[in-house]
Amino acid sequence: MRFEPPRRIAGSITVPGDKSISHRALLLAALADGSSRFWGVSPGHDVAATASCLRGLGVDLRCTDAASHTWQVAGLALESWRSPQQALDCGNSGTTMRLLCGILAGAPGLCATLTGDASLLRRPMRRVAEPLRAIGARVAVTAMGTAPLHIAGCRLSGGSVQLTVPSAQVKSALLLAGLAAEATVEVRQSAPTRDHTERMLAAMGAHVDVHAEGVAVGPGALRPLPPARVPGDPSAAAFAVALAVLHSDAEVAVAGVCLNPRRTGWLRVLQRMGAAVEVVADPTGTTLAGEPSGTLVARSSDLHATDLRADEVTDCVDEVPILALCMAAARGTSTLHGLGELRVKESDRLAATAGLLAALGVAGNAGADWLRISGRGGAGHFSRLCAFDPGLDHRMALCAAVAGLCGRGVDHIANWSTTATSWPGFAAAVGPLDRSG
Ligand code: S3P
Repeated sequence: MRFEPPRRIAGSITVPGDKSISHRALLLAALADGSSRFWGVSPGHDVAATASCLRGLGVDLRCTDAASHTWQVAGLALESWRSPQQALDCGNSGTTMRLLCGILAGAPGLCATLTGDASLLRRPMRRVAEPLRAIGARVAVTAMGTAPLHIAGCRLSGGSVQLTVPSAQVKSALLLAGLAAEATVEVRQSAPTRDHTERMLAAMGAHVDVHAEGVAVGPGALRPLPPARVPGDPSAAAFAVALAVLHSDAEVAVAGVCLNPRRTGWLRVLQRMGAAVEVVADPTGTTLAGEPSGTLVARSSDLHATDLRADEVTDCVDEVPILALCMAAARGTSTLHGLGELRVKESDRLAATAGLLAALGVAGNAGADWLRISGRGGAGHFSRLCAFDPGLDHRMALCAAVAGLCGRGVDHIANWSTTATSWPGFAAAVGPLDRSG
């Protein structure tokens, strides 16, 4: 795939439904006592992997309208889920693997193997297996601590677990296990992470207790999800907003985006850098599980450097590469701290981001968990990107595309199909914004 920078960028862009919320909607609706219907579901391959794993477990779910991405899920009591004939393929999706692991661990008599693509098979899985074992689960990982995961479902005891990594996926796996345990499962965490699971569980009538140190979920049935729209993905919106902010002549509106504060840390950082982004909230409670949503309007901006503190990372963990690109176009030097978790995402995103910035002619250095960037004072000062290989990391591919569209173009992004993980229609969505005239 190649991109040239348009002279002017303007208009409205629609982003896919939020990936994190879409996964959870399918998984929780599959456990509900009745049928659920919701729309705006992410069309990405990650969420399709969750759907296909659920089918392998005997759950009846389908997309009933491709245009509106409406899904209908017939909930099935966990005792009626069946052991799959083959290993369940989670593709590129850590969320599918870790959340499903939490659910299946508490299904007595059910045996399943969870596998994935080359990227997922490199990612750490002890972080989910060990805390689940602490509440009675039987989950085996490889000697490297990776998938395939072998799960022998059993009756879980419940109990209180302190998380050692700030991970919403691990927290969610434990909370979902709590639904079928003998007693409450409490997850204590040192840093707050995205809270879509607890919000959705509460909307479905589960016993959820959110307190200062963590979250607890007690055993019990789930009501179906009240029908509503999955809000737009703020992690995808970050690319559209960066496109407008970095380009020298641009104005882009993104409507219906999830404005959950645990997902908009990147926006707070951009605004601190002087980015011209207006936020207009929609009336509350209109999207699935009452998630807040609204419109973002972003314009060309003169950015200045800022530091990213370690305690800010969980609220923008997926947007660090695109924030780093914005810092590369800012005036001054920015340092990002606390980036250790980026090493174990769909790629080693710390190394991949440093590599992309170097290819754009941006000076900087990287340490074990930090990145320092000497901003060029405008994306127009980036070098033309000859070639970039994101591997199996959709967010790195999209970052390279934005760099090319705002800077001096990109000749070749390898493995472009990896963007289908979260945003299959990125190029088609961005095309109409070209107002070069
Ligand atoms: C996600 C949580 C984050 C994030 C991932 C999606 C989720 O991962 O990076 O893209 O849906 O819960 P961690 O929980 O491992 O930080």
